[in-house]
Amino acid sequence: MTIAIVGTGSVGMALGRGWSRAGHSIIYGTRDPDGMSAREALAKTEGAALETPAEAARGADVVVLAVPWKAVQAVLLDLGDLGGRVIIDAANPIGPGITHALETSGGERTAGWAQNGRVVKAFNTTGWENMLDADYGTHRPAMFIAGDDDEAKATVADLAETLGFEPVDAGPLHRSRELEHLATLWVSQAVQQGRGRGFAFAVLRR
Ligand SMILES: NC(=O)c1ccc[n+]([C@@H]2O[C@H](COP(=O)([O-])OP(=O)(O)OC[C@H]3O[C@@H](n4cnc5c(N)ncnc54)[C@H](OP(=O)(O)O)[C@@H]3O)[C@@H](O)[C@H]2O)c1
Repeated sequence: MTIAIVGTGSVGMALGRGWSRAGHSIIYGTRDPDGMSAREALAKTEGAALETPAEAARGADVVVLAVPWKAVQAVLLDLGDLGGRVIIDAANPIGPGITHALETSGGERTAGWAQNGRVVKAFNTTGWENMLDADYGTHRPAMFIAGDDDEAKATVADLAETLGFEPVDAGPLHRSRELEHLATLWVSQAVQQGRGRGFAFAVLRR
């Protein structure tokens, strides 16, 4: 599968490196191909290409939004018609004091801006270090996935499993808000509670 990753920062690079190791083709969409993060992403991702965000999306089956929340609307405007592609929204609208910054969910806002894209909220509830290395021994970290299109969610679940996560269907896209709250919980645990970044949420059963 060809995956466009818009944003060459921590999350974009972690996902790109993992999926390229699993045999997917990665095209990073960047604002600045000569920038430090774009050059680092290219160097660390086997076989990856660098394009503008719009060119990267055009050549891909799946598009990942790995940009700051405040950039999502402009990025989607620039991408234009998404031709029914699966759009993974990893962005977290985090406000002051590690709170949810919106009255609705970022995932639903993203879906409103994504022209003809099938938006799935995922890869937002855990730190990028876990996306780079999800190995916790006996338990797989959970990857919560919310969206309105079952086929798109199945694609994203496969991509999560490829990286070592247990995909967890969190329901329709309006559940994005809960995933975004889970992200604020993860960040507050890591930062305010002093737990550090080497932990993940998992689902236990009996
Ligand atoms: N950090 C985490 O552990 C984590 C975990 C889960 C979710 N998230 C979410 O994932 C998203 C990306 O996080 P990140 O930590 O990867 O961020 P980051 O390291 O700051 O990277 C974001 C990338 O987005 C691109 N970008 C496009 N428009 C931008 C703009 N207006 N301002 C700044 N950068 C812009 C840049 O890549 P180019 O220069 O190549 O264009 C930049 O490197 C955020 O929405 C965050 O909330 C983060």
